[in-house]
Amino acid sequence: MNTLFDPIHAGELHLANRIVMAPLTRNRAPGAIATPLMATYYAQRASAGLIITEATAISHQGQGYSDVPGIWSDAQVAAWRPVTEGVHAAGGKIVVQLWHVGRVSHVDLQPGGAAPVAPSAIAAKTKTVLIKDGVPRFVETSEPRALRAEELPGIVADYRHAARCAAAAGFDGVEVHASNGYLIDQFVRSSSNHRTDAYGGAIENRARLLLQIIAAVRAKVGAQFGVWLRLDAEELHTPGGISLDDAKAVARMAEAAGVDAVSVSASARITSGVVFTEAPLVHKPGGFMEWTASVRWVRLIAPPAFRRQAGVNSRSARRQGRASAWRRCPHAA
Ligand SMILES: Cc1cc2nc3c(=O)[nH]c(=O)nc-3n(C[C@H](O)[C@H](O)[C@H](O)COP(=O)(O)O)c2cc1C
Repeated sequence: MNTLFDPIHAGELHLANRIVMAPLTRNRAPGAIATPLMATYYAQRASAGLIITEATAISHQGQGYSDVPGIWSDAQVAAWRPVTEGVHAAGGKIVVQLWHVGRVSHVDLQPGGAAPVAPSAIAAKTKTVLIKDGVPRFVETSEPRALRAEELPGIVADYRHAARCAAAAGFDGVEVHASNGYLIDQFVRSSSNHRTDAYGGAIENRARLLLQIIAAVRAKVGAQFGVWLRLDAEELHTPGGISLDDAKAVARMAEAAGVDAVSVSASARITSGVVFTEAPLVHKPGGFMEWTASVRWVRLIAPPAFRRQAGVNSRSARRQGRASAWRRCPHAA
């Protein structure tokens, strides 16, 4: 019987165990440059089978909070190297979470004080964090402008470039952050995407940007490098948020586009503040496991005891027509 402590393959990545550290924004990177404190922090956690880093901006435009790291310049690549080297020296693996916040930003964080960008000019009505002289404060996000169709290849190119930078910095892979209300999720959600072009309307259109990003990243980094996806399966208390049916459809299309694994997440608009500070996001034991099984795609699986607790062991899943979640793990040990 496999346990959390048994090794596993995810795509070409061999992980010493099945514990994956979730991405956690820390705001410890002034000027968007990773710091020695971050190298210490990640090396201390390298006994997990895999670390997913805090969300990391793919471009200046992709930034939405003060002091979060980036991965688009030579200086940023050089600053990440001690982080990946420290984790590898301690026997761990690390992938960087690639992030474009879209409308969840503030003009003070954008190049030239420009408006943040979004699929449609619809405000996020949430807050972000600005840090001045070491003092953080929550501020309302700024009114966004709608991206023109001809700008979208540039966003795809920014992801491709960031993936190349990730490889240069020594990461074992990337995770495309497509959840929690950020740019890609803003395209996938019908409430924030009112476009009438090829990127709006049916779910295939709303997922188009994501699929183009995955395909471009995979083509850039090759088959050996990890390409993961973080996707919300539910967005609670979010009218027009992604539904489980949308998530299933997007996961299937993402598989065809070349991702190695999907990290199934969920978000809940509990307050008007920054939603993920309200952890745990979803007050439902095993809720993430249930959604993960429903999305029918798990490469990294939890041990049977956890599955039983979550009510998604393979027999009950089979009864509910969801068994392929466990069978579609060709690399699972
Ligand atoms: C302080 C904080 C920072 C987070 N940063 C990120 C992030 O950078 N990227 C991301 O995908 N999720 C982020 N999350 C969400 C977590 O990865 C996780 O999915 C969430 O906290 C739910 O797990 P929990 O109920 O065990 O807290 C963050 C959560 C917290 C509390």
